[in-house]
Amino acid sequence: MSRGFFITGTDTGVGKTLVSCGLAAAFKDAGFRVGVMKPAESGCRNEKGHLVPQDATFLKAAAGSNQTIDRICPYRLGVPAAPSVAAAHAAVRIRPDFLVRLCHDMGAAHDLMLVEGAGGLMVPLVDDYTYADLARELGLAVLVVVGNRLGAINHAVLTLEHGACMGLNVCGYILNDLESEGTPATATNAQTLQAMTKVPCLGKIPFLRPRGASEPPETRPDLGSLFERQVQLDYLKQIM
Ligand SMILES: Nc1ncnc2c1ncn2[C@@H]1O[C@H](COP(=O)(O)OP(=O)(O)OP(=O)(O)O)[C@@H](O)[C@H]1O
Ligand SMILES: [Mg+2]
Repeated sequence: MSRGFFITGTDTGVGKTLVSCGLAAAFKDAGFRVGVMKPAESGCRNEKGHLVPQDATFLKAAAGSNQTIDRICPYRLGVPAAPSVAAAHAAVRIRPDFLVRLCHDMGAAHDLMLVEGAGGLMVPLVDDYTYADLARELGLAVLVVVGNRLGAINHAVLTLEHGACMGLNVCGYILNDLESEGTPATATNAQTLQAMTKVPCLGKIPFLRPRGASEPPETRPDLGSLFERQVQLDYLKQIM
């Protein structure tokens, strides 16, 4: 069984990739050999006949990985939909057993694996097989990225509780500020969540103002040190 974390979120677009990149950079800075995977990526842009997976590309760079994009992201899909749907559209058969083997294989060559889901836990990879099933088969602890916005409480509690119901080891959540301006909801979500669940909050990521179109937050050179300050890395090191 590999060591590491499966990173899921309360929804699509809540910062799973940003958090995975930040963790990868922070663990790398601490001397770990970090393996990364984005098992399936939908909505890849087509560049001269090749589907380019943006998330996997960010993850590879943040981890300083020498693995090929083929291994980091075996299923690259063009249609922006759940992987099961995008795969059916492209007549691709996603094979969970292959993903599990590949992750274990990569895990053997690294100190830890960070595997990013797509959307949330109940997104299907195959018609009757979700990311929750994959997380369980990978045997990785599950970290939930909570997008700090209106609606986060409901999505977060549902994800944390359903993860536990599915037998997953949900080790904590990270609250990620998606908006530059605070609102009554974003200012109180942390406190409300803390009162509603025993699952620990393992970090809070502030809104990272883009430094121009050419420098998205995922590629910030200080991302590792920012995560060292904002996330309980020592706790994560202990439990993995
Ligand atoms: N803390 C933050 N500060 C500023 N921008 C952020 C922050 N977190 C995420 N973003 C931006 O929000 C967008 C969505 O984030 P991200 O791609 O990480 O979401 P995701 O959960 O990985 O989505 P998907 O389900 O498509 O994989 C990106 O443009 C990202 O740069
Ligand atoms: Mg992503």
